[in-house]
Amino acid sequence: MRKLRILPAGEKPSAAPARLASLTHHHLVSLHDLVPQEVDYLLRLARHIKAFPSHYRTALDGRSLALLFEKPSLRTRVTFELGMGQLGGQVIYLGPQEVGLGKREAVKDVARNLTRWVDGVMARVFSHQSVMELAEYSSVPVINGLSDFEHPCQALGDFLTLLEVKGALAGLTLAWVGDGNNVAHSLIYGAARLGVKMRVATPPGYEPDRSAVADARREGGDIQLTHDPGEAVAGADAVYTDVWTSMGQEEEASTRERIFQPYQVNAQLMRKAGSRALFMHCLPAHRGLEVTNEVIDSPQSIVYDQAENRLHIQKAILVALLS
Ligand code: CP
Ligand code: NVA
Repeated sequence: MRKLRILPAGEKPSAAPARLASLTHHHLVSLHDLVPQEVDYLLRLARHIKAFPSHYRTALDGRSLALLFEKPSLRTRVTFELGMGQLGGQVIYLGPQEVGLGKREAVKDVARNLTRWVDGVMARVFSHQSVMELAEYSSVPVINGLSDFEHPCQALGDFLTLLEVKGALAGLTLAWVGDGNNVAHSLIYGAARLGVKMRVATPPGYEPDRSAVADARREGGDIQLTHDPGEAVAGADAVYTDVWTSMGQEEEASTRERIFQPYQVNAQLMRKAGSRALFMHCLPAHRGLEVTNEVIDSPQSIVYDQAENRLHIQKAILVALLS
């Protein structure tokens, strides 16, 4: 794998990466399904698309993407809708009240219907099983726009952001503080593919999935698990947190707020990381819970760069899978 390196300020990537055929008609359900070369390719393509958006204005001319949402969204919806439009394609938005995935209609029938009309499906679902089943019965690419187990588009956008800010990814240390959740799983898989070390601090009982950690370690991932946030962040290049209560876990909110309190990312914890450490969050943030205003609004925070890069990385994913 070629080492990813950022270009000097102001210089744009001179050429698009050579097309990687293995991604055409591929699903993106989990980052575990991508090999390092494919992750590297998506990051390179995203950088080229970001630098030369007009070159890609007709890349998906006439293509269509169904956006299937079982849960709310700001970033994922806006960036997929805008991204498809900027590539010459169109989207059909199907909100939480419309499809009744697995309730009004079996997941496999939803997949078999959509496949007859559209060129791709982006799905945000409660159960990871649903997005896996959509992929199994769909003959067009299925993109996971967040499930209870993974959020691959988020993690890819985050690595693009880290690459831009830090200049290179291999050898960086990313500290995760909070819940061992969907975003954590995708970062763990992605980090293993990019040579990024991960230190994960969670309360006991909220560790990331054991098999995800074991898979990533088998693939060369350097992942340390701890219950001590101070230990996780010491000397890290970036400190990442997410909500303590994910969508679908609302009934556990008050218990979680109590248990996760020592895992708040505040100025005291950021001091342990050091003044050069970045602060990251996938958003939406619950200000005053997992992160203080002082940290999320500080110069160390790159959360809105992460949000912007969802657009660019997803355009790369769409071009790679649908064209
Ligand atoms: N980070 C993210 O996926 O945001 P939304 O839930 O608003 O789409
Ligand atoms: N872990 C959060 C991420 C939101 C983008 C959730 O699943 O609600």
